[in-house]
Amino acid sequence: MTTAVIGQPISRVDGRQKVTGAATYAAEFDVPGQAYAAIVRSTIANGRITSFDTAAAEGAPGVVAVLTHINAPRLPYHEHKAGSDPIIGERLHVLQDDRVNHQGQPIALVIAETIEQATHAAELVRVNYAPEAATTDITGVELLPPTVEQTDQSDVLPGESRRGDAEGALAAAEVAVDQTYVIPRENHNPIELHATIATWEGDRLTLWDKTQWPYNVADEIAAVFGIPAENIRVISPFVGGAFGSGLRVWPHVTLAALGARVAGRPVKLMLSRREMYYGTGYRPHTVQRLALGAARDGHLVAILNDAYQETSSYEEYSEALVDASRFLHSCPNVYTRHRLAPMNVHTPTWMRAPGEASGNFALESAMDELAVALVMDPVELRLRNEPELDEFRQLPFSSRSTQECYRVAAERFGWSRRTPEPRSMRDGRWLVGWGMATANYPAYTVPASATARLLPDGTAEVSSATSDIGPGTWTSMTQVAAETLGLPIERVRFALGDTRLPRTPQQGGSFTMATVGSAVQAACRQAREDALAQAGTDDLTEAMRRLGQPVEASVDAMPDDASQRFSMHAFGAVFVEVAVDPDLGETRVRRIVGAYGAGRIVNPKLARSQGIGGMIWGIGMALMEHAVVDERNGRVPNATLAEYPVPVHADTPPVMEVIFVEEHDPHVNTLGVKGIGEIAQVGVPPAIANAIFHATGTRVRELPITPDKLL
Ligand code: MOS
Repeated sequence: MTTAVIGQPISRVDGRQKVTGAATYAAEFDVPGQAYAAIVRSTIANGRITSFDTAAAEGAPGVVAVLTHINAPRLPYHEHKAGSDPIIGERLHVLQDDRVNHQGQPIALVIAETIEQATHAAELVRVNYAPEAATTDITGVELLPPTVEQTDQSDVLPGESRRGDAEGALAAAEVAVDQTYVIPRENHNPIELHATIATWEGDRLTLWDKTQWPYNVADEIAAVFGIPAENIRVISPFVGGAFGSGLRVWPHVTLAALGARVAGRPVKLMLSRREMYYGTGYRPHTVQRLALGAARDGHLVAILNDAYQETSSYEEYSEALVDASRFLHSCPNVYTRHRLAPMNVHTPTWMRAPGEASGNFALESAMDELAVALVMDPVELRLRNEPELDEFRQLPFSSRSTQECYRVAAERFGWSRRTPEPRSMRDGRWLVGWGMATANYPAYTVPASATARLLPDGTAEVSSATSDIGPGTWTSMTQVAAETLGLPIERVRFALGDTRLPRTPQQGGSFTMATVGSAVQAACRQAREDALAQAGTDDLTEAMRRLGQPVEASVDAMPDDASQRFSMHAFGAVFVEVAVDPDLGETRVRRIVGAYGAGRIVNPKLARSQGIGGMIWGIGMALMEHAVVDERNGRVPNATLAEYPVPVHADTPPVMEVIFVEEHDPHVNTLGVKGIGEIAQVGVPPAIANAIFHATGTRVRELPITPDKLL
């Protein structure tokens, strides 16, 4: 056996390809004879299309076809629900009727010889509408009642849950806080724009697509077009960030395939940055009442979390908004309600720590407010309410390292030197504040498949169809394979991002290593055992040489019932130092120290990269991100990176420490990993808000905390 490769800080195996431009992203493929498509989008938020005038567009140079609902082929749109699709409702059917449901809805497609010709001609399409009153202001929406009584954390239907008497306990509590927390709509802004290239050969379709889930693209487009999924190949080897926007199959993918079929030639369709604000989802605007009641000694007696979020008129998107309130801290009386506000907007979707990040902002801000009301250290308040078990599901935690995380991160941060009074710490003219928050993110279990193939030359090819949206899956899977096989990492090649490879779930929910990693481990274990048994030796390289032909093992890895017996989550603690300019209201984040119990860490270098990425995301959520929705018409006036700020290097603190505490979880999966893509972001926005309160004495409950809110 070689030395362990799991746990080593190995550099990305695809790093050279990425920095030299050799890594090919969806829009960078070229197919002989390809034409280009551009989408025409509605300029109203609700109503009907009464007529089109496409003559000018059709006559424009290079135009191959102009498709509208009037001349587009009818598509079968068979029933298809992926795990990333809202359970209730039906996806938008593109170019199938005259109905407009939201601002920016695709209503026509122009195909031309060049991208410039397509874009120009799309602007020449004239549309007449019969507009109807549109619901684009969340404050006036009639909320949908809860769909279910929630009994399980993993149930994402909007629900209601109750244990004890939260209202009564709140009213009788010695100390209480009761506030409303608001997070505006936020938009995914991966640097790589969404793009699809479609090419038909008879009834077989190949799609190059930016996606987090190649198999889902094949399954959905098969359902939309009424063809077998086996006829569709999806190729997606590299993804330049996605953060949830690539979990569903959005209308532009169907449009690319439809355009290619009508044009009779390959079609490339890439969205603009502006279009990404109208067609690939977003984190929904949320409004949450969060009330906490406690005894004088700090023990929680009541938690109420009553939340609602925007969704579209045609799908009920909901996420894990109120989950943390039900189990993160110990409390006998808890009430949660999660409702939806259907509006004339496109459907929101999963965005990095969907639900957890938003819910945690309200809960962990409220915990800080309670600590202030109790005149108690916020870490001490959390320690007093550390639960013995998941009180919502009444299950033991598979492992929970919160106390270790508080201790390690607080010590590293120097928390004991904090003076509790707001505005009591200064650095020259800057007001300095220290704040903290708890973080949590579930450890999911999902089936996945992988194949391992051992070759006579002593190398191995291991494959699985998963995406790598940036965490370094190419590398970490190579490590798992090399360690399991007992081969040096240079002798293992991993392949991913193609539906010719074994079936995998979406790369989302921070569960790729837990699921695909488990499958890769199982396939490699099987291939190794088979080769050794067949060759009658315990030296794998010798066995491979002796056998003289490939040995292949494919495994469908099924999670066991651990998720029914245990409550499985990663936990963490985040400590932040901010400095606020008292005259300008500008906040600078100076330090972030996070400690996380996330199980085994496969690659500390990649894990740290995920950690600081999550922290920087948290800075954006806390201080910058806001997709403004014009309440008159549903338009997003700041749909550009110039006007939708996200953190750049100058916004990141000089100190970002990511600490993974040692945690051995024997239950969560065979690798003992919990996932790290999302947990590092979760506690950051409330920790920043709490630090800003400590610096300034001003409590801001509506993100982002822009200078105007501090003056
Ligand atoms: Mo993540 S929001 O599951 O890509």
